[in-house]
Amino acid sequence: MSRMNVVPPSPGPAAQNFLSRAHGLFINGQWVAPRSGKHFDVFDPGTGQKIATAAAGEAADIDAAVAAARTALTGPWAKFTAAERGKLLWKLADLVEQHAQELIELEILDNGQPLAIAQYVVRHVVPDFFRYYAGWPTKIEGATIPAAPQGRRPGDVLSFTLREPIGVVGAIIPWNAPLPMLMVKLAPALATGCTLVLKPAELTPLTALRMAQLCTEAGVPEGVVNVVTGFGETAGAALAAHPGVDKIAFTGSTEVGRLIVKAATGNLKKVSLELGGKSPVIVFADAALEQVIPGAARACFFLQGQNCMAGTRLYVHEKVHDRVVEGVAQIARTMQLGHGLDPASQFGPLISAEQRERVRGFVEAGKREGGELVCGGGAPTRPGYFFEPTVFARMRADMTPVKGEIFGPVLCVQSFDDSDLDRIAAEANNTIYGLSGSVWTRDIGLAMQMVRRIDSGQVSVNMHAALDPAIPFGGNKQSGWGREFGKEGLEPYLKTKAISVAW
Ligand code: NAI
Ligand code: MG
Repeated sequence: MSRMNVVPPSPGPAAQNFLSRAHGLFINGQWVAPRSGKHFDVFDPGTGQKIATAAAGEAADIDAAVAAARTALTGPWAKFTAAERGKLLWKLADLVEQHAQELIELEILDNGQPLAIAQYVVRHVVPDFFRYYAGWPTKIEGATIPAAPQGRRPGDVLSFTLREPIGVVGAIIPWNAPLPMLMVKLAPALATGCTLVLKPAELTPLTALRMAQLCTEAGVPEGVVNVVTGFGETAGAALAAHPGVDKIAFTGSTEVGRLIVKAATGNLKKVSLELGGKSPVIVFADAALEQVIPGAARACFFLQGQNCMAGTRLYVHEKVHDRVVEGVAQIARTMQLGHGLDPASQFGPLISAEQRERVRGFVEAGKREGGELVCGGGAPTRPGYFFEPTVFARMRADMTPVKGEIFGPVLCVQSFDDSDLDRIAAEANNTIYGLSGSVWTRDIGLAMQMVRRIDSGQVSVNMHAALDPAIPFGGNKQSGWGREFGKEGLEPYLKTKAISVAW
């Protein structure tokens, strides 16, 4: 591990001004104080210092936000043409670009990610996503159906479908990528004409509050987008159980995903879930190692491993095992840890002291259970919640770090010396999760045979975690319900009305 700057550069005046404000809840187009009067502190994970306070919304605030969203559903928003909804999303993309520097700084201070990632997210990922969904409202179409209900003859009846907004959406999002998580819920909700109550993670409430202001500036009518900051057990649980919510879109832990499903049973609201992952990265002996090595390091260490798609189980053919392990470990050892605002930093902190202890627990278990610790495994002595990028080799399927979603920078390497693809796939699929995965080989036939065998919502070849607004994303097995991104990402926000007209 190389030089570490301990004192971060200061954010610019726009971000500083935002941080110093007394933040309220954004309900019905207004900033309001939480009914309970309670606030909570927001910390910079890169320093451990308090940087802001946010309002602790609770059940009464969720009630108010849901009521506003319900009213807004039939207000001026319902009169927006599809083209106008598209324009609004496009405008939102423009505004993100105009306020990019401030959003980048807030995202880094809130979440800890390195500058290069925040810049890429704010300048490209988010605007591209809003613009992709800006194209959809004008293309959401039902169908005409050649049906003959109740013995009618063709020409005497017409059956067709309307795609309607599902209604009031409750969105509950995590802290690992706050702006992309918000974008993934907000864009399809606006594209389809829904209204939204968003509950950001208590660890990262800041950019959602800034985005609420930008929504108003973009022309989103009052009540269409509401942001209630607060804790999962209070604000989140109240939203998930609320009888006035038609659909919950959740991203987070599998454990909370289960609670969301239970909470939804009261009014049988629809639920989409993006949950945990433990994705395999499978490297065959003929793969281009100069691509595999940086690719595997990135697959695991991106966002310090706090990433549901992270490639945390690396399966390498015995012939190239040692070279791959040494190459990835070399990258891990030389990654520059540091505060995200420092342009030299390549690797940021974990989100919280608690998360760091969780990661440390997995690493200690791996050592106890006989894993070979190749590099990392500890926390550097510096402020902030840093943890070293860690590589374990010679792991077995039954070891704790191989089984659980660590959500930290811990790569578990296993090897295979097998030509039976079913057996390799059985190992790769030996997990409760099924979100992402990748196959690395120059042999396209082999790649495709392997792709067919992997039980994941997404598999990439010679790359990992291929994301694009147009590529559907979501999990099999306990990684979730439904898909986000792309055309499929609209589906959870729509309902179909079948209409038959006789004359
Ligand atoms: P979490 O699942 O508790 O938090 C995600 C969101 O759910 C937050 O907004 C939180 O306030 C909310 N929430 C928590 N409890 C709730 C409840 N009872 N009802 C409604 N909403 C609730 O995740 P946490 O505790 O921050 O992280 C723990 C572990 O979860 C991580 O170590 C990681 O393994 C996993 N995780 C996975 C994510 C993913 O994208 N797959 C994202 C975040 C965490
Ligand atoms: Mg939790």
